[in-house]
Amino acid sequence: MKILVIGSGGREHALTWEFTTSDHDVICAPGNPGMEELARCVPIAVDAHEALVAMARKEGVELVVVGPEGPLVAGLADKLRAAGIATFGPGAAGARLEGSKVFSKQFFAKHGIPTAPFAVATSVAAADTAIAELTAGGEQVVIKADGLAAGKGVVVASTPDEARAAAREMLEARRFGDAGASVIVERRIRGREVSVLALTDGKRLEILPPAEDHKQLLDGDQGPNTGGMGTVCPAWAGAELLGRIAAEILEPTLRGLAADKIDYRGVLYAGVMVDAAGAPWLLEYNCRFGDPETQPIIARMEGDLGTVLAGAARGDMPAGELTWDPRVAVCVVVAAAGYPGAPRTGDVIGGLAPFDDSPALVFHAGTARRGDALVSAGGRVLGVTALGLTVELARARAYEVVAQIDLPGRQVRTDIGLRDPVA
Ligand code: GLY
Repeated sequence: MKILVIGSGGREHALTWEFTTSDHDVICAPGNPGMEELARCVPIAVDAHEALVAMARKEGVELVVVGPEGPLVAGLADKLRAAGIATFGPGAAGARLEGSKVFSKQFFAKHGIPTAPFAVATSVAAADTAIAELTAGGEQVVIKADGLAAGKGVVVASTPDEARAAAREMLEARRFGDAGASVIVERRIRGREVSVLALTDGKRLEILPPAEDHKQLLDGDQGPNTGGMGTVCPAWAGAELLGRIAAEILEPTLRGLAADKIDYRGVLYAGVMVDAAGAPWLLEYNCRFGDPETQPIIARMEGDLGTVLAGAARGDMPAGELTWDPRVAVCVVVAAAGYPGAPRTGDVIGGLAPFDDSPALVFHAGTARRGDALVSAGGRVLGVTALGLTVELARARAYEVVAQIDLPGRQVRTDIGLRDPVA
């Protein structure tokens, strides 16, 4: 199949690699230097929708896989489908599950999906009232901007004062522009998080093995939140819990989408908090593959993902195609100096073996070519992903490759996977 992968991060590099292992012919837009080693990259930006549709048509692309949420929320999948091109990724109506926190929380409530108590506020006064009500028993709240805010629109407030300040920043100072014109005030649920991604054709779910992200910058879950500093797959969640997540969260979502006449063909990525009693609560949905969850999931994947996604795009996803390497996969992110605040770019990256010669899968995320040199071009620069019979062995292999990589000022967590006694 001729597959077009849209995006330029580690997730898209991992997807591209997976497709090439089944001998698909891959085009990437715009891609990155890592993807260039495997596929043809075409310099069209992810928001240049008309140009992407025209290129897909001209190239005779048989399947488009849209990586990031921005173009999905902006309706790229609708435009591709309208042009008759099979596309994996929800249209704008379905992508609101990620693109609007107000829509998604109301969807969860309407369809009986367990989620934290919440209120919607469009004014500071309404936010203050909700904060007072939801913290009356001494609980904490989380303030969430309604729209996309580059992963920065969620504030976990340790006191009501912090919550009120966050609501003002969003509603009055418009820190995130119109994305903060409405906010969710939500009671904080404490527990352990797990990422559960499911592929769907709108009728059936193909639930992928769970992954666990390490969102904070520093070891021991300290420091600021990031897009993710590393992941492990399979994560700690066992079969019984996954059964509950399927029965209480993912399946009601699929029924709710059908009831609301939303034709959803893509990834349902559930961010789930599991409380001390073992009950799963849906924090949020993303409408795309996770990054860096995709990297270790793909490292363990066996079977032809292209065939599965093409089936999902047609509304007829095949069952039983994907199987899983029993080993554990660990992805360690190598981030730039200054990340996540103001990442430094333009640093020369050394010590990388050719992709196929490395004992780990080194997925590029924020890299660019400058002449003959490979340089950093984003906050998360590389995702080094390795398999092992135990999490310790996978970690050892990943960190051995990380140690060989030279990136001035780099930031790397040393404890990825250590929370996980998966053996
Ligand atoms: N790992 C977080 C995300 O993909 O949004």
